[in-house]
Amino acid sequence: MHVAIIMDGNGRWATNRGLCRSAGHIEGAKAVHAIVETAVRAGVQILTLYAFSAANWARPPAEIAALMHLFGQYLFTETRRCVKESIRINVIGRRDRLTESLLRSVEESERASALGSRMHLRIAIDYSSRHSIVQAAQRAGRDADFSVGHFHHLLQEADYGTCAAGAVDLLIRTGGEKRLSDFMLWECAYAELHFTDCLWPDFDAQHFQNALDDYAGRQRRFGTLTAHQG
Ligand code: IPE
Ligand code: IPE
Ligand code: MG
Repeated sequence: MHVAIIMDGNGRWATNRGLCRSAGHIEGAKAVHAIVETAVRAGVQILTLYAFSAANWARPPAEIAALMHLFGQYLFTETRRCVKESIRINVIGRRDRLTESLLRSVEESERASALGSRMHLRIAIDYSSRHSIVQAAQRAGRDADFSVGHFHHLLQEADYGTCAAGAVDLLIRTGGEKRLSDFMLWECAYAELHFTDCLWPDFDAQHFQNALDDYAGRQRRFGTLTAHQG
């Protein structure tokens, strides 16, 4: 099962408390650990987390700097735990706009956790689904033999994912908005959608379990008349 999460609402969580937005991102980063743990226990095979969109570069430089710092810190502290639990880490998205030091952290985490087989944790940083699709389409344009399966493969390459991640089964968005914000547009073609008003820093193991239970109650049909339980 592939679960993808749009981790939204950090800024509002902070401003609701009279704090600066970056304080919300710090709390948001803390929330990730419990969700990864719960996903592993629930038998999720792939967990893709939307951490920073290509459009997020339009935010104030101080907020961007705080986020980039948090990504580096997260990778530094979590990589060892992930290796211990056999979780493979990959960062998807563009890499050419990351700082040297973050890029090194990303490569080191990927290298150290490469043999992880229990769950695949993918973190989307400087990610734009439309950008990935355009890149894949450019490559596909040169191929005579072109199919949905082949395009899917090219898309994984465009994401810098040296890994096939497959279609998303369950997409969760926290923070109350009901939109995809340029996240995995192709991969979510038949995803079950779960939207919650819960702001990301408040999203805990129980909220995540609720989303998984919601999914388990869904009937998926993929355009056929046969129902598959989620
Ligand atoms: C999600 O929270 C984190 C990122 C987009 C980097 P936001 O920062 O978007 O929080 P809100 O939506 O403004 O509350
Ligand atoms: C989407 O959230 C990106 C991430 C959660 C990383 P945004 O807060 O950037 O999306 P919009 O602006 O509400 O669409
Ligand atoms: Mg937001």
